[in-house]
Amino acid sequence: MKYKSQKVAYWFFALSMLLVSLQIIYGFIMGFAHMGFDNLHELIPFNTARAVHTNLLVVWLLSGFMGAAYYIIPEEAEEELVSVKLAYVQLISLAIVGVIAVVGYHFNYWEGRKFLEIPRPLDWLVVVNVLTFLGIILATLFKGKKRTTTAMVLTMGLVFAALLYLPGMIWFDNQTMDSFFRWWVVHLWVEGVWELIMGGILSFLLIKITGVDREVIEKWLYVIVGLTFISGILGTGHHYYYIGAGKTWLLVGGIFSALEPLAFLGMALFAVAMYRKGEKKHPNKIALNWTLGTAIVSFVGAGLLGLAHTLPQVNMYTHGTLVTAMHGHLAFWGAYAMINLAIISYTLPNLTGRKLYDSNRGALAFWLSNIGMLGMTVAFGVAGVAQVYMERIMGVEFGEVQKEIQVHFFILICCATMFTTGIILYIAEFVKYGTPSDEALVAAA
Ligand code: HEM
Ligand code: HEM
Ligand SMILES: [Fe+2]
Repeated sequence: MKYKSQKVAYWFFALSMLLVSLQIIYGFIMGFAHMGFDNLHELIPFNTARAVHTNLLVVWLLSGFMGAAYYIIPEEAEEELVSVKLAYVQLISLAIVGVIAVVGYHFNYWEGRKFLEIPRPLDWLVVVNVLTFLGIILATLFKGKKRTTTAMVLTMGLVFAALLYLPGMIWFDNQTMDSFFRWWVVHLWVEGVWELIMGGILSFLLIKITGVDREVIEKWLYVIVGLTFISGILGTGHHYYYIGAGKTWLLVGGIFSALEPLAFLGMALFAVAMYRKGEKKHPNKIALNWTLGTAIVSFVGAGLLGLAHTLPQVNMYTHGTLVTAMHGHLAFWGAYAMINLAIISYTLPNLTGRKLYDSNRGALAFWLSNIGMLGMTVAFGVAGVAQVYMERIMGVEFGEVQKEIQVHFFILICCATMFTTGIILYIAEFVKYGTPSDEALVAAA
């Protein structure tokens, strides 16, 4: 069954497409600055570009998750969204808060806390926005006929993500305390509750695309949720090693965070196993690529590259270097960017009635962006290891080291160009699909 209110999802996805484009522009500004071409410095200093780049990332991913929920929940609960109008108001207010925050960063209206730069007054607007979103989702779910495991895991992830935003809003005068609670947001989002959101969307996609029984797929989902919580919660300790939080964290953080890749491995095995078990008849091969891709690339980017620097003996050297950026890129890309691109690719033909999934452009978008991102990851990694060696082992001064590693950013820019070509093709495809219509949804039912 399809529901007319699912159309709302399209506009959240469109906002995502707009914001990812802006995010990439700021990525290039930083890439060139690292190469020594920091010509925009007076207008957009590096720290501003960095905050804009990472915040836009978070907002476009959240906008995508919201769109995904507005599409998935009606279908799973067998109920139209309780208020489409309110959902549009929520979309517009999300866009407005995003614009104010990003413009503000250019005028020093921000808090210098990585990822949580949004000033506290704006945080309250975010809270109202997210409460509206959750209100619509929860009311629809409870009014509906069914409450499937897939829908419950997705909703649970969204509710917990909202709750975990709050510790980042507490005011501390103490740097260690502030850092301690900042990680409740940053770590427990990406290595905890966002994994539930990802698991929920992945499960929905696998049910639709592979045709395997819901019972089988949802059993796996329980295992993944279990693994995520067992490892991820105490895994937060891998950010507490040397911030003044106590020595116990060296052991607790080391052991539990080293177990975190298991949840991502679980997801990769799960997706591949369901694909092999399934009928392989679904025509939307592009959506299948992104779905299997996200399960596999997230294991590499988050699981393996996370593991690479999670032990205290390693993190002592790599903390806050380009090794972190190496992992940050492939992890965010593999897990949360790709799952968004997967759900968008799956829903577009249903929302618009146009079936463009046989085009070469879609496949090219997938491969160019993935190979490009893999190349960027390697470039960051090589630069990062060189940085650690010179700066942390040989004791060379920070600025000197940055000059030595400029050459790696030439490679980064080349790979980023390939990546961007892929994203441009993806967005071109998105535009070509056109806008959603009631007729399309009725026909897809
Ligand atoms: C999809 C999941 C993940 C995403 C999106 C992600 C992303 C990130 C990002 C952006 C940072 C930098 C944060 C900051 O400095 O504010 C970071 C740090 C870190 N991540 Fe992950 N990560 C993920 C999963 C993992 C996993 C599973 C592990 C361990 C096995 C891990 C280990 C680490 C470590 C040790 C750091 C600290 C680096 C440092 O000290 O500078 N991450 N991650
Ligand atoms: C053209 C594409 C891109 C370029 C050139 C680029 C470049 C950069 C640069 C130079 C940095 C700063 C590293 C530093 O602190 O010195 C950065 C940070 C970051 N970028 Fe990108 N980026 C691009 C796309 C992306 C995408 C698509 C994602 C996510 C899927 C992403 C996620 C991040 C994250 C999470 C950080 C912060 C990393 C950390 O905490 O260490 N970037 N990017
Ligand atoms: Fe973490």
